[in-house]
Amino acid sequence: MALLEILHYPDPRLRKKARPVTHFDDALRKLVADMLETMYRAPGIGLAAPQINIAQRVVVIDISRENNTPQIFINPEIVESRGKDTMEEGCLSVPDTYDTVERAAWIRVKAMNTNGESFELECEGLLAVCVQHELDHLDGKLFVDRLSTLKRSRIRRKFEKAQRLAL
Ligand code: NI
Repeated sequence: MALLEILHYPDPRLRKKARPVTHFDDALRKLVADMLETMYRAPGIGLAAPQINIAQRVVVIDISRENNTPQIFINPEIVESRGKDTMEEGCLSVPDTYDTVERAAWIRVKAMNTNGESFELECEGLLAVCVQHELDHLDGKLFVDRLSTLKRSRIRRKFEKAQRLAL
């Protein structure tokens, strides 16, 4: 397994729309294993492939306290959603930044496992938020896009300054 580098906002590569996975092979299983290792090490509860500069529709999530319940979503789609809920969100690509985002309270997600077998899952609470957040990454969207323009430009300035200081 290997640790992968996580891209940080406002890196334009985070804005690419990811392509569906078509090969359910050992390379996909290695990608998933590497993504899980990278997510646990960060530490985070969700990671989407575009965050590690792989433009494929692959998401890993583990909301368990013990980090022993990985959930893998290949080519995920939200097929049904209900209600509204707000939660404080952060993102491994937007470090040390948290804000309240409104999303659907309940969703039904359809996806595939690493063998290409389809499944459906009903989610609410933290899992519903996490799935919606990670699916946004597959379409090049970040949680800061769901904040007010003022808040977003403040965050953007903070990260552009951090980049300059890192030179
Ligand atoms: Ni994120």
